[in-house]
Amino acid sequence: MRASIVCAIGVAGAAVIEKRQEDSSTVPQYFQTYPELYTGPTLTGEPAALAETNPAPFPGTTYIPPQPLETQAPIIGTPSDGGNIFQLFGQLSHYFPNPDGFGVDEYTLPKGTNITKLHMLHRHGSRCPTAKYGTVDKLLNNTDKWQASGKLSFLNEWTYKLGEQILVPVGKQELFDSGVLHQYLYGNLYPNNGSKIIARSTTQDRMIQSAEYFLAGFFGLRWPDNATLEVIIEEPNFNNSLAGYFACNNSNLPVSTGGTNATKKWASVYLADALERLQGMIDPPDAINITDVYNFQSLCAYETVALGYSSFCDLFTFEEWQGYEYSVDINFAGNNAFQSPTGRAVGIGWVEELRARLTHEYLTTARGSVNVTLDSMPSTFPLDQALNFDFSHDTNIMSILTAFGLTQFQPFMPDTTYTPHRSLIVSHMEPFAARLDIEIIEAPRPVVVNRGALGPDSSPYADAGEPTTYVHFKLNQRTIPLGVSYSECGLRRDGWCEIGAFLDATAGAWEASRYDYACNGDYESLPYGSINSGAPQ
Ligand SMILES: *[C@@H]1O[C@H](CO)[C@@H](O)[C@H](O)[C@H]1NC(C)=O
Ligand SMILES: *[C@@H]1O[C@H](CO)[C@@H](O)[C@H](O)[C@H]1NC(C)=O
Ligand SMILES: *[C@@H]1O[C@H](CO)[C@@H](O)[C@H](O)[C@H]1NC(C)=O
Ligand SMILES: *[C@@H]1O[C@H](CO)[C@@H](O)[C@H](O)[C@H]1NC(C)=O
Ligand SMILES: *[C@@H]1O[C@H](CO)[C@@H](O)[C@H](O)[C@H]1NC(C)=O
Ligand SMILES: *[C@@H]1O[C@H](CO)[C@@H](O)[C@H](O)[C@H]1NC(C)=O
Ligand SMILES: *[C@@H]1O[C@H](CO)[C@@H](O)[C@H](O)[C@H]1NC(C)=O
Ligand SMILES: *[C@@H]1O[C@H](CO)[C@@H](O)[C@H](O)[C@H]1NC(C)=O
Ligand SMILES: *[C@@H]1O[C@H](CO)[C@@H](O)[C@H](O)[C@H]1NC(C)=O
Repeated sequence: MRASIVCAIGVAGAAVIEKRQEDSSTVPQYFQTYPELYTGPTLTGEPAALAETNPAPFPGTTYIPPQPLETQAPIIGTPSDGGNIFQLFGQLSHYFPNPDGFGVDEYTLPKGTNITKLHMLHRHGSRCPTAKYGTVDKLLNNTDKWQASGKLSFLNEWTYKLGEQILVPVGKQELFDSGVLHQYLYGNLYPNNGSKIIARSTTQDRMIQSAEYFLAGFFGLRWPDNATLEVIIEEPNFNNSLAGYFACNNSNLPVSTGGTNATKKWASVYLADALERLQGMIDPPDAINITDVYNFQSLCAYETVALGYSSFCDLFTFEEWQGYEYSVDINFAGNNAFQSPTGRAVGIGWVEELRARLTHEYLTTARGSVNVTLDSMPSTFPLDQALNFDFSHDTNIMSILTAFGLTQFQPFMPDTTYTPHRSLIVSHMEPFAARLDIEIIEAPRPVVVNRGALGPDSSPYADAGEPTTYVHFKLNQRTIPLGVSYSECGLRRDGWCEIGAFLDATAGAWEASRYDYACNGDYESLPYGSINSGAPQ
């Protein structure tokens, strides 16, 4: 068998396995990471050959060596002040910190104030497509029936090299790098009162591997000395707060596909020119349709992270890439966030888990997708860890943000026209290796609401008051201002929220999700835009 690195589990497996915890099946399923159980489907693709296939440098541009991906391409219509199509791939974007923030600036911790706990929720790294697009077989099984020309002529020689589901090389790097970053940011929160920490992921192959690469970055290759990885079963009909959709039937049915429908509608608008242009480069023109042209954009994103470069990327203008990002934004809004009837339900389990951790109570009664068996045991749901590392998926994290009731991301986005100024941008929220860092901050006195407003030398502390604990949400290295969504928190410039106010603000989240009805009720499928609460009407 040919050795392969692309989308591969890796031929160096044996060495890695030695380092994994618990090689035998004598441990309970929830501590077993090898051999893997319930991994979901995986398929290894062909190795990349970027040294051969990289078409850069492009005429008239300065040579930029791949790092490790080739992310320069001559894109028509790129604004003169910059603009990077590789950051317009929605959830398929290679990780980058949110460049715009979520509406507030970042503040340093006042002297004397400490971060005492971290609750992290991390997406897996860049991966192969979950399944092959119909477009691929349609073209490659019928190469005698069409001929491409011009910019599209690469298609005549093109072969499909991608695997399915598993991490690509840069996806592993993203998690390792994040582990390193988190060690710099929060390394002082370890040792954990002298014991190993429990980190949680799911049984899917890319989920286990993402957690392992992160832990290797955070602790080093001997991380099993410092952390035990708990893997919660990710399969239909199992409860798992890190993959809540499998416990929520309606989230997998047409009632929750408003976003998919919105994307289709929008694609027929923003890709109309591209369809005509690309059909002019293939004979017969009807060898491709709008679905195929949309898939070409997704193939650009996937080939870039798997192979280092993709010929599909510069088929499109900058504006068409903005259209692509928007197609993903409305997709998440309608399928997984406030415009979905199951938006809150899928994520509520993790919200309840965070509340349980903050209030030091085990979850002993069913709450959404949580597995009560695991959440009522100290060995699988420790309440006192300073460092809590959980790993999840893009749509699940979007639903968790919805279940929190972060109404900042609620405004409706139409599926017929582009909305340039919007709060929900998926590449800023759920790119590959996205991370939500929830910090618990302890201050000796209240920290003022309008920090810095009275000049750089003004005290960050109130003149008097008791020690105060705050909650601080950071998504992809930028603060989500809690006061914008929760009136209880007040409009603080630093976006923090006093912990009591935070618990008050989220106390109604469970009811708002209408979990049982949302997931199991028999209700009508309403078109995209009819729902705006993340729950059934
Ligand atoms: C295309 O060819 C592959 C490999 O021969 C086959 O598995 C697949 O079913 C074909 N797909 C279509 C749509 O004909
Ligand atoms: C991990 O645990 C080992 C064994 O207790 C310890 O020597 C090491 O310092 C820990 N690593 C980190 C990064 O704290
Ligand atoms: C809860 O987790 C345990 C341990 O992995 C597993 O045996 C059980 O099937 C899970 N239950 C549900 C409903 O997911
Ligand atoms: C969800 O659907 C599955 C498969 O159709 C079924 O077995 C299960 O009972 C359903 N769950 C609920 C709570 O209705
Ligand atoms: C989306 O479109 C499909 C197919 O037309 C339909 O069955 C489904 O009900 C629609 N979903 C929503 C939420 O509108
Ligand atoms: C494009 O073609 C594919 C297969 O030939 C088909 O499944 C798809 O529905 C078509 N898309 C549209 C919008 O007609
Ligand atoms: C799984 O979730 C359902 C719905 O919340 C709940 O009824 C059931 O008790 C849960 N099972 C476990 C083991 O958590
Ligand atoms: C640390 O460990 C000690 C001894 O086992 C225990 O009494 C204490 O509650 C622990 N503290 C925390 C924060 O877990
Ligand atoms: C912050 O940490 C220092 C050093 O551990 C400690 O002396 C101080 O009391 C802590 N402050 C707060 C507000 O927890």
